[in-house]
Amino acid sequence: MTDSSAASRSGPTLVLDKVAKSFGQVVALKSGSLELENGSIHALIGENGAGKSTIVKIIAGLYQRDSGRFEYLGEPVDFTTTAQSKDAGIAVIYQEPTLFPDLSVTENIFMGRQPTLSMGRIDRKAMREETERLFEQLGVRVDPDHPTRGLSIADQQLVEIAKAISLDARVLIMDEPTAALSGVEVERLFAVARGLRDEGRALMFISHRFDEVFALCDTVTVMRDGEYIATSAIAETSVDALVRQMVGRDVTNMFPKEVAEIGEVAMSVEGLTRTGVFHDVSFEVRSGEILALAGLVGAGRSEIVRAAFGVDPYDEGTVTVAGARLRPGDPSAAMAHGVALIPEDRRKQGAVLESGIARNITLATRGRLARGGLIWNALENDSAQEWASRLEVKATALDTLAGTLSGGNQQKVVIAKWLATEPRVLIVDEPTRGIDVGTKAEVHRLLSDLAGQGLAIITISSELPEVLGMADRVLVVHEGRITGEFSREEATPEAVMHAATHKLEDVR
Ligand SMILES: Nc1ncnc2c1ncn2[C@@H]1O[C@H](COP(=O)(O)OP(=O)(O)OP(=O)(O)O)[C@@H](O)[C@H]1O
Ligand SMILES: [Mg+2]
Repeated sequence: MTDSSAASRSGPTLVLDKVAKSFGQVVALKSGSLELENGSIHALIGENGAGKSTIVKIIAGLYQRDSGRFEYLGEPVDFTTTAQSKDAGIAVIYQEPTLFPDLSVTENIFMGRQPTLSMGRIDRKAMREETERLFEQLGVRVDPDHPTRGLSIADQQLVEIAKAISLDARVLIMDEPTAALSGVEVERLFAVARGLRDEGRALMFISHRFDEVFALCDTVTVMRDGEYIATSAIAETSVDALVRQMVGRDVTNMFPKEVAEIGEVAMSVEGLTRTGVFHDVSFEVRSGEILALAGLVGAGRSEIVRAAFGVDPYDEGTVTVAGARLRPGDPSAAMAHGVALIPEDRRKQGAVLESGIARNITLATRGRLARGGLIWNALENDSAQEWASRLEVKATALDTLAGTLSGGNQQKVVIAKWLATEPRVLIVDEPTRGIDVGTKAEVHRLLSDLAGQGLAIITISSELPEVLGMADRVLVVHEGRITGEFSREEATPEAVMHAATHKLEDVR
């Protein structure tokens, strides 16, 4: 295929028409249809498990469709490997990271296509320079020689984006690329994406955030339960219309926060310091209270709660739960005192992908479900069933492997696992990241209910509406220090954003 023949064709660049895909009994995609045009950014939206990533993987050649039509540049195609789609000019940013942890950032970006010098030697200098150029464009500050192991999820995501963009592809597919990024990083990505669109390339963008879909995309296709529902021009649709198409009903109350009775101090953190990461952090959270840690991605919020819970060390300070001082660096002590932490990187730290849903949900409560050393399957299933249905985990059976669930449904399983421990202090890091609009409202309702039952909740969220909609009290973290504290009444978007972007001296 030459460029001129591609440029002179009219009609869509890529077409999927009534494409279906099943895995054994599970129908992942019933009837997926989509048309990508040159010079246009197409959003694909739908609830968790609607089949979005399955479409992505079929286009990429990772899965083969069972039926339906797939055309690329006007010709029918059957990609049977990811190399084939890549060679045909399709670059994909997958929802789950695909980096090799032991290879450097640069090696990951050039995996399988390293530029060579004479005699086949790899041109390391050229690779490094290209990486630096890409990072400059995306505003990434990561050492190109660093192994990707240990990079934050945001940085890993940025490396994935740089890798896809470096392919200089005709079609760029992005499956929830922004889920882990900060506002500035999202803006940079969008600038790059718009640049590619204006050069005449075809882009596809998946996100659960409507503000992003409306800011970036030209067209939007909605899916529900594996089926195509509708395609509209962005200019001719609205959030409400899209939500109705996605969910099949109106979602009226995103933040069903009830007033709960605020009780005794459940957990208090005093003077917590980890040199170079966070400094002199003190706060307490009371039973019945939802305390939000707001701030920009990278401000140190996750690091603070991880240290308080005991998964990371700290240098100074104390953490007290219901009167007992927690031993530093000992998460099992924290758990024994009724503290649960639902981590941010749920794929890596949360779900056991090779185990079933029921096993995952009861993982942290198995001791309690055991009688005389035996775990009763019936008890395990009852407990798992209850939580799976409260969180609307979409799966055919409780023994479905967690690894085969959609990204959002894996998150729900991890949340269920921790809720099943019935903690007294619940720490949730980005509770609704990657979760669809209907379930988001459900998770909010659940948090509000739990607070109403006397739980103390600490939540970290980068979504300001979520912070303002759910918190009784907001603490703002900037560069590892607390730069603001607001009651629910005082917490305006302006006040929180100001504290999130200014040093302590400037805030006061
Ligand atoms: N390899 C697989 N084996 C079995 N079932 C699968 C597999 N891949 C996907 N599925 C199922 O297909 C359905 C669609 O999943 P998919 O990942 O496409 O959803 P999604 O729309 O991307 O959701 P999310 O927003 O949560 O990422 C889900 O019910 C999922 O469990
Ligand atoms: Mg997905």
